[in-house]
Amino acid sequence: MLITFEGIEGSGKSTQIVLLYNYLKEKGFDVVKTREPGGTVFGEDLRKVFLQQDVHIFPLSELLVFMAMRAQLVEELIGPALQDGKIVLCDRFVDASYAYQGYGRGIDLGIIETLNRLVTKGIRPNLTVVLDCNVSEGFKRKAANGFSMDRFEKEEATFHRKIKRSYLKLSKEDPKRFFVVDGKKRVDDIHMLIRDKVEQLLKNHGI
Ligand code: TMP
Repeated sequence: MLITFEGIEGSGKSTQIVLLYNYLKEKGFDVVKTREPGGTVFGEDLRKVFLQQDVHIFPLSELLVFMAMRAQLVEELIGPALQDGKIVLCDRFVDASYAYQGYGRGIDLGIIETLNRLVTKGIRPNLTVVLDCNVSEGFKRKAANGFSMDRFEKEEATFHRKIKRSYLKLSKEDPKRFFVVDGKKRVDDIHMLIRDKVEQLLKNHGI
């Protein structure tokens, strides 16, 4: 079972993934939490260099680096964990490439689809939670947490609005897989909504 979390910067997805992870752990499920970019030694090392804002990277290079990190994560962690019947929670996955590199940078979605299929070996999330929030709110939250700006966070608000819209578009195109939650709600309320959705999903899969 693969559950992914997506959203713009500061949408609260990382907080929600921890809450869900702790909840599922407490209930006795075999659950693994990981993230993109990163999640492996290779990926985490690359993430540090890659997210620095002062290194210029062209859109196609950017896409291919994300794909390399994804291939490593799938081979090393996600694939084996799913084989073992674990629940995998991943902070960003295939959809971030459609949103950021596709709709954000203008790379052909068909190319992204082909590469995604290749590096994931066809693995697709069973559920994708999208934390939907306004760009200004996301940035306020990021600033309040004292994060420094990385390569994406320094992009113009219009870029982030495009990303927000693209996640909603992707959700509309595949409503069975996506679960959009209003990121303005209280953290606990959002957690309860996600919990209910995940419990339903596990039940449907006889888990
Ligand atoms: P994070 O802030 O959620 O850890 O993600 C780091 C940045 O990487 C975020 O701005 C989105 C970006 N990203 C992409 O552009 N494409 C991708 O495929 C992934 C996984 C992340």
